[in-house]
Amino acid sequence: MTTAIDLFDKARNHERLELLRAAQDADMVPYFRTLEGEAGPVVRMEGRDRLMLGSNNYLGLTGNQRVKDAARAALDEYGTALTGSRFMNGTIPLHVALEEELAEWMGTDDAIVFTAGYLANVGCIGTLLDPGDTVICDSGDHASILDAVQMSRARIRPFRHNRLDKLEQMLGRAATDGGGVLVVVDGVFSMEGDVADLPRIAELCSAHGARLMVDEAHGAGVLGARGCGASELLGVEDKVDIRMGTFSKSLASCGGFIAGPGDVLEFLRYQSRAFMFTASAVPAAVGAAREALRITRSPEGAELFERVLDNARYLSEGLASLGFDVIPATEIDGRTIHTPIVPALIGDDWKAALMWKVLYDAGMYVNLAIYPAVQRGGALMRTSVMATHEKEHLDRALEMFDAARASLPAE
Ligand SMILES: Cc1ncc(COP(=O)(O)O)c(C=O)c1O
Repeated sequence: MTTAIDLFDKARNHERLELLRAAQDADMVPYFRTLEGEAGPVVRMEGRDRLMLGSNNYLGLTGNQRVKDAARAALDEYGTALTGSRFMNGTIPLHVALEEELAEWMGTDDAIVFTAGYLANVGCIGTLLDPGDTVICDSGDHASILDAVQMSRARIRPFRHNRLDKLEQMLGRAATDGGGVLVVVDGVFSMEGDVADLPRIAELCSAHGARLMVDEAHGAGVLGARGCGASELLGVEDKVDIRMGTFSKSLASCGGFIAGPGDVLEFLRYQSRAFMFTASAVPAAVGAAREALRITRSPEGAELFERVLDNARYLSEGLASLGFDVIPATEIDGRTIHTPIVPALIGDDWKAALMWKVLYDAGMYVNLAIYPAVQRGGALMRTSVMATHEKEHLDRALEMFDAARASLPAE
């Protein structure tokens, strides 16, 4: 007797295979393109220089000499890898110093460093929640949050992106679920670049006795006077119970962190499987993140935040004036908040892929977000800027966008 279904059928006959093959045949797949040099404003990619408008290297620190020197010094001192988890033989003095500096930066009791941002979300959310608890999340939350929520086996009460009336409804329902309640939102949403209305969310959480966690992956290193993210910018740091951040964007490295109350973080240190059962990041990554954090916290950091946000505003206004359907900057409490993510809504997947290819051939790389990264029919050219882009780079990008649109077949 054999099984009725071959497990590999899903890989060989999935719903989007035909589309993928057609895109491969036309050399239109935007993914797995190889970068042949540093991730600066202009990159060497597949044999030619291209304007990079798809990087999360918001402050441009991956090429910074001090950050590189710190990575090299850590490599020289501690070797290529630690081959053990943070819990066992994978903690070095650099981790301890970095955790202290992160907590100081965020103004929290403590911080804990994970091997990746993904693991920080999984390791925190999955450990704090039990099957009897309830978790409420925005449908636009990052995949690492949605995966963590599934893994926790807590009751999930999602609400439609930014619909705080629905959040309130879910909080009302959660009150009788019988367990603890956690609300998790992105401070800056990774695809649309919009900012969560944290003052109102924090108020609702407090009114319903729920804990609030904010993922600051895209806000940390750019928003707020100290660059601590959306919670700082919106003045709710003391109302957010747990903040998550990553080193893989502004902090020019790889790894992630959770900042919050000391007793809760101690619990994570001894209970979080994503912390205890994976090897610690390589020393060079920890050294680079620490130096990038030091730059972020220095007066140089504040100049970089201003530059990256000014570049975002410039690109956003430029694309809008060309007639692109740009997702506008968020308005909260009378402020207009730009983030380094500047998405242009294209709609149809195939049209977006065509435009991506025209731009790529013209000498630009942007991220293409199609379903399931975004809703069906909501394909985005997700452009993002760095502090190290010059206006001249952005002007060239705008010319390319204009020409790309003109070259597409009429609908
Ligand atoms: C909002 C958000 N959270 C978490 C992560 C995961 O971070 P990392 O890439 O460091 O694992 C990302 C990265 O893509 C993100 O955009």
